[in-house]
Amino acid sequence: MVDRQGRMIDYMRISVTDRCNFRCRYCIPPGGAPCIRTGGAPLEYGEILQIVRAALELGICHFRVTGGEPFVRPGLTGFLREIKELPGVETLSVTTNGSLLEGRLEELREIGIYSLNISLDTLDPDRFEWLTGKRELEKVLAAIRQAAEMGFPHLKINCVPLEGWNEDELCGLAALAREYPLDVRFIELMPLGAGTVWRRVPQSRVEERLEEQYGPLLAEKEETREGRGPAVYCRPAGFQGKIGFISAISHEFCESCSRIRLLSDGTLKPCLNGPGRVKLGEMIRRGAGTEELKEAMRAVIFEKPARHGFEEIKGIAAGEEWACGGEEGCFMSSIGG
Ligand code: 5AD
Ligand code: SF4
Repeated sequence: MVDRQGRMIDYMRISVTDRCNFRCRYCIPPGGAPCIRTGGAPLEYGEILQIVRAALELGICHFRVTGGEPFVRPGLTGFLREIKELPGVETLSVTTNGSLLEGRLEELREIGIYSLNISLDTLDPDRFEWLTGKRELEKVLAAIRQAAEMGFPHLKINCVPLEGWNEDELCGLAALAREYPLDVRFIELMPLGAGTVWRRVPQSRVEERLEEQYGPLLAEKEETREGRGPAVYCRPAGFQGKIGFISAISHEFCESCSRIRLLSDGTLKPCLNGPGRVKLGEMIRRGAGTEELKEAMRAVIFEKPARHGFEEIKGIAAGEEWACGGEEGCFMSSIGG
């Protein structure tokens, strides 16, 4: 459907859990995310499917399942299969930290997952452990290698450059796209939740570092069916895959945003950071049918904010307070990226 700004909204990210087996320091603050108040159980898979069916009737046809870490939730592959089988679903993709993929890649490919995004911020085992709380770099790398070797379609590595932390590794991380047929995307840190206490590395600085090492980054046109993604791509000479940039702050893409987000408690958020939300979970539990869900979704999607407004958040520069001011569902681990 089209929103008030005239944007075509056809892509829904579905967070199936706000739990994660990692504790990345820019995502989850020490001691856990205070904003996770799902009131107990997340939506049942059947309830999510009800929402997906309503979304399909509104013309939303691209879906991506995220977390937290989606694979910590039992029965995920069966759920993916069920979504994929719904008539009208054009693409179904998954975003994961890659630590629980062992033995699952073949099944994911067989289900017909359109694209797999794996997060990776460092190639150093000690740094990895410091950042995530788990000594599992090798596991994640093994999954990436296996997925690349089996020719998993649209395989992407997501890396968040952090000032003074992994800046010296950006060329090494980018080299994964030379070594394997996959894309490496640098995601500008957004001042959300625990991300507010870190400093982002602007896209221009990442580009400079890569160009020093690999020469000119030649612009690449992306061909994608999965909505109109926010990434811009380039390809250094000799690379098999592309290098992408997702820069919500320095190259804002709100004008062409096509997505909405369903949190694991059933809250539909039309924007990562802006106002507007509807508690579809509560509606379902009150017995709402597809028509009622559709009406509520249509209203909140139509009013999707024009911009994320991250720069207006108080206290970012000083890194003093959470961007959400304690609001529920404001941490990346519950929104799902
Ligand atoms: N800004 C940008 N990206 C983030 N992620 C988590 N928190 C933030 C943030 N504050 C990323 C993770 C993962 C994706 C789902 O979201 O690194 O790649
Ligand atoms: Fe790290 Fe992703 Fe888990 Fe957040 S949700 S702690 S970024 S693996």
